[in-house]
Amino acid sequence: MKLFLDTANIEEIREINRWGVLGGVTTNPTLVAKERSDPLQLWKEILAEVAGPVSLETTELDADGMYRQGVELAGLGPNAVVKVPMTPAGLEAGSRLVKDGIRINVTLVFSPAQAILAAEIGAFIVSPFLGRLDDVSADGMDLLRRICEIYQVQGYETNVLAASLRHPMHVVEAAAAGADIATMPYAVFRQLVKHPLTDIGLERFLQDWKGLREELEEGA
Ligand code: E4P
Repeated sequence: MKLFLDTANIEEIREINRWGVLGGVTTNPTLVAKERSDPLQLWKEILAEVAGPVSLETTELDADGMYRQGVELAGLGPNAVVKVPMTPAGLEAGSRLVKDGIRINVTLVFSPAQAILAAEIGAFIVSPFLGRLDDVSADGMDLLRRICEIYQVQGYETNVLAASLRHPMHVVEAAAAGADIATMPYAVFRQLVKHPLTDIGLERFLQDWKGLREELEEGA
């Protein structure tokens, strides 16, 4: 499973990219708005920083406008993936973009039926939102499992991207369910590394090492 960052913050992207595990980036209008800078410049900077796919979201609501915007976004870089919402207009614009050879990410997916539609139009990525389902007392992980099962049975090639992840166990369970990609906020990425026993173990190793050095220096 590839690990993506769900952010438009270039510093967060640079930091995680240095770890050597960053498979790609997803952005959305809310994340871009948080940065309070020119979206076009921001997208270009992110596309240049990341080797893998970077999802850039359309904001037009009608199919023609969304298609035109999608073509522009795709032109920003070879790793740009155009995000379209799971709406009738999103499907129409999305299928036109796919026919043009543009990779699309169908976003705001909350049901297996929607995931089937995304696969049928040849989407590169489908994004079920797990956390937002959990927020309304539904089971986001169950949706992910069902989509992975359906895609396997049907032989769909669309990549299943587990989105709206809130904590490390979401990431672990998404991997077990067979997701192709998990996208997560910076804070969750950092939480993946953490374990109290790692910190305790490292502190002990360093103390013992320091003790040895001091003994050797005293003996010299
Ligand atoms: C995915 O592409 C979305 O940007 C994202 O995962 C939404 O997550 P949220 O529910 O934390 O806003």
